[in-house]
Amino acid sequence: MSSDHTNSIKNNHKLSIAPMMDFTDKHFRMIMRQISSKALLYTEMIVAQSLIYTKEKEKFLDYNNEEHPISIQFGGDNPEILQEAAKMAQDWGYDEINFNVGCPSPRVCSGNFGASLMKDPEKVAKCIESLKNSCNLPVTIKHRIGVDKDDSFISLNNFVRSIANSGADRFTVHARKAILKGLNPKQNRTIPPLKYDLVKKLKKSNPELLIEINGGFTNIDESLLALNDFDGVMIGRSVYKHPLRWSEIDKKVYGINTKPKSASDIIFSLIPYIDKHLTEGGNSWDICKHLINLVQGIPKAKIWRNQISTKSISKELDIEYLLKLTSMLKEMGY
Ligand SMILES: Cc1cc2nc3c(=O)[nH]c(=O)nc-3n(C[C@H](O)[C@H](O)[C@H](O)COP(=O)(O)O)c2cc1C
Repeated sequence: MSSDHTNSIKNNHKLSIAPMMDFTDKHFRMIMRQISSKALLYTEMIVAQSLIYTKEKEKFLDYNNEEHPISIQFGGDNPEILQEAAKMAQDWGYDEINFNVGCPSPRVCSGNFGASLMKDPEKVAKCIESLKNSCNLPVTIKHRIGVDKDDSFISLNNFVRSIANSGADRFTVHARKAILKGLNPKQNRTIPPLKYDLVKKLKKSNPELLIEINGGFTNIDESLLALNDFDGVMIGRSVYKHPLRWSEIDKKVYGINTKPKSASDIIFSLIPYIDKHLTEGGNSWDICKHLINLVQGIPKAKIWRNQISTKSISKELDIEYLLKLTSMLKEMGY
């Protein structure tokens, strides 16, 4: 990999929006793209094997042009299957492939992939090599600081170095270990403590590697501080729950002189997109379920939220009504 390429990854992706199953679908990503023109967006995890065997590939792979830069996340443990998946990702125009070695879900781990793969660095290295050899895209990895009792710095460092040798272009480290037996995925995102210092030490020991920190960031200022120590910051739950809290990403993280959009600005800019979705027979709730959080914490917007949820769920929401509700929001100053 040329240093030019490495630098372009570094410069472009200081902040990313985490992959989150059932949340970061293409509609949510479109909303996030209205909030930041620059943040790297991730798909939900796609199980490589399911992608290879499904007849409905576009259901897994489809995204909107506006979503670039976008990274497709794969889960899997079979290098041959990952090879096929990587070719599809490239043909479909994704900007990057991310390999998931951080998911602690029992369903995922029982297939021996996700976080349990951290116990088998050789296999992870083969998977990364296979992804790299079958496409020209950057291949990155998302992992934990360790699994079960094995969360020492030495293990983490050995893991990262061996994966770096197989060609991984960036490491996103969720600064918690995963406990595979006894904690469910939700508990695995809260109970194991965040150990940023371990990841800092990892970056200090491997200054040539691109290391992105993930886990527990709740606002832009915290993220900017983290950028003093890391090459990037990945944000998950906070962005989903409080999207507008992140409306200054372009300005503060990327130095772009733009005015942050209000909730109504964002919805108005999405009207053609929502209209197209409805015209093609899509359900308004697919998109509106993500819009709800744009008005979280706004006192008088309760009516807006109730109306949009009730009408969407009962399939009575049309674009005129959405325009009317959004104008109401704008009149209230949001
Ligand atoms: C509902 C939900 C689904 C998630 N799905 C994925 C996933 O598909 N792939 C993945 O690598 N991580 C997944 N994660 C983990 C997040 O990407 C992230 O690592 C984690 O939430 C910690 O970051 P945060 O504290 O900023 O939320 C998921 C998290 C949540 C809350």
